[in-house]
Amino acid sequence: MRYTRREWLRTSAAGLAGCWQAGWGLPSRSRLGMVVAEEPLAAEVGANFLRKGGNAIDAAVAVAFTLAVTYPQAGNLGGGGFLLYRRSDGWAKVVDFREVAPRRATEELYRSVPSEAAVVGPRACAVPGTVRGLGLAQRRYGRLKWAELLQPAIELAERGFPVPFELAEELRRARHLGRFAESRRVYLKDGHYWQPGEQFHQPELARTLRRIAEQGPEEFYEGETARLIVAAMEPGGGLIGLEDLRAYQPLEREPLVGQYRGWQVVTVPPPSSGGVGLLQVLGMLEESGYERCGWGSADAIHFVAEALRRFFADRACCLADPAFYSVPLERLLAPAYLARRRSGIDWRRATPSQMLGAWPDGLERERAQTTHVSVLDQDGNAVALTYTLNGLFGSGVTVPRAGFLLNNEMDDFATRPGQPNQFGLVQGPANRVEPGKRPLSSMAPTILVRDGLARLVLGSPGGPRIVSAVLEVVLNMVDFKMEVHDAVDAPRFHHQWRPDALVLEPGFSPDTVKLLQMKGHRVARIANVGKVGAIAVQDGWMLGVADRRGYGRAAGV
Ligand code: GLY
Repeated sequence: MRYTRREWLRTSAAGLAGCWQAGWGLPSRSRLGMVVAEEPLAAEVGANFLRKGGNAIDAAVAVAFTLAVTYPQAGNLGGGGFLLYRRSDGWAKVVDFREVAPRRATEELYRSVPSEAAVVGPRACAVPGTVRGLGLAQRRYGRLKWAELLQPAIELAERGFPVPFELAEELRRARHLGRFAESRRVYLKDGHYWQPGEQFHQPELARTLRRIAEQGPEEFYEGETARLIVAAMEPGGGLIGLEDLRAYQPLEREPLVGQYRGWQVVTVPPPSSGGVGLLQVLGMLEESGYERCGWGSADAIHFVAEALRRFFADRACCLADPAFYSVPLERLLAPAYLARRRSGIDWRRATPSQMLGAWPDGLERERAQTTHVSVLDQDGNAVALTYTLNGLFGSGVTVPRAGFLLNNEMDDFATRPGQPNQFGLVQGPANRVEPGKRPLSSMAPTILVRDGLARLVLGSPGGPRIVSAVLEVVLNMVDFKMEVHDAVDAPRFHHQWRPDALVLEPGFSPDTVKLLQMKGHRVARIANVGKVGAIAVQDGWMLGVADRRGYGRAAGV
């Protein structure tokens, strides 16, 4: 029998255990450290390492490895992402462990196969960056031992954990997993499906994690795991070879830093577009007075959506991996340029997207999936870590005998410039497939600083909707003076230029929707715009918020 989540929680012991596990009713504030993750067990693991004297990096690394076990929707070994680290003395770095296109990947190859090949199956996989990325961050900035940080993940994979309701539901809906024998066996129980509360054991994954714990991150790229990944490529014509894995390197980058109404905004640079988007939109809003229209008013939503529309038009034309494309970063963030962009916004009318660019419309086809972890330790060091398999459960390919899923990040390239990808995003030639290149991302792990202290640590999954989710939480707090829980809870909206649609979560009034339509917006509905994980500092307390849109947890120390 299938339940709704509410029925399941009310009627089953496993559901009640799930409530406990999710920390419902527990205070999510602390003076000693805070971890927010999209899955409760992982958040607890992070908080435990803070209790044991680990710093924010240690906690974030342990959470990320745990999510690879407990949150296979997006937690991963086979994906990539961005880790933003800001120390309490103000020094900050970004570890870019975005995946790269394999050496054999060419634009022509992806044009000569059905577009689905960039989304499902081995050809969709880019070279994973997570393990070396986390390894670099931990070796340079962590305090505890590498192997110690992987231990909880190993135990959870070995001993198993009760399948949360949402994971059971999402596995049931992830039809692409059924197309690969190993994924069908591990994640779908060969068609019998995991039931909520059942114990999910992953012995192959436990062995992989143990090898990485004992031999270090290199094992994944040069050892048995590397050989297993390459073997997983063969049946579907996948492109990752041993040489690709051996050559993969995470990069340390300087963060992007901007100002907004007295706050310093520290975020990530290309190859993510997320930080540029956040700073561009904030720059357009700064002198606009939009906030005087009031939160949730049609005028305020319209103005922010128009600013988002303009950022996404710029994204399509001018953002990509800076190693392959000369990103005009200074121009895109110049106050004079943003003022010009702002003055092009008509308060009364939506600007049709075709007036801002020349690519055709597309429709969103698939749910986004990525995951975010926020950590603040007792000393005020902060980590905002967003990483991903790209789509929900990535490419659907599980590496046989290694027990983990591989990403479908090739779809974040413009595999066919001008045509929409799985997020409906239309991208330009700057982001075309090239060997060794990082696909353009929208991830936006971000830290807001005031008086020299990290006051807000946040990020979100959601593909292009990440930018809107992070932006709107910032606006809710800075401009509308909301407390962090309200700021995350409040309904959100999104515009990404193409398709030319203003997407609204439930919760906006019908009057507002009508006014937006009268301004010329094509309004569409969506269940959620991102799932923000945030930590705010207020009166000496760290307040953690796991978005009501997910089933995560804020775990205080
Ligand atoms: N894979 C989603 C993103 O990087 O934006």
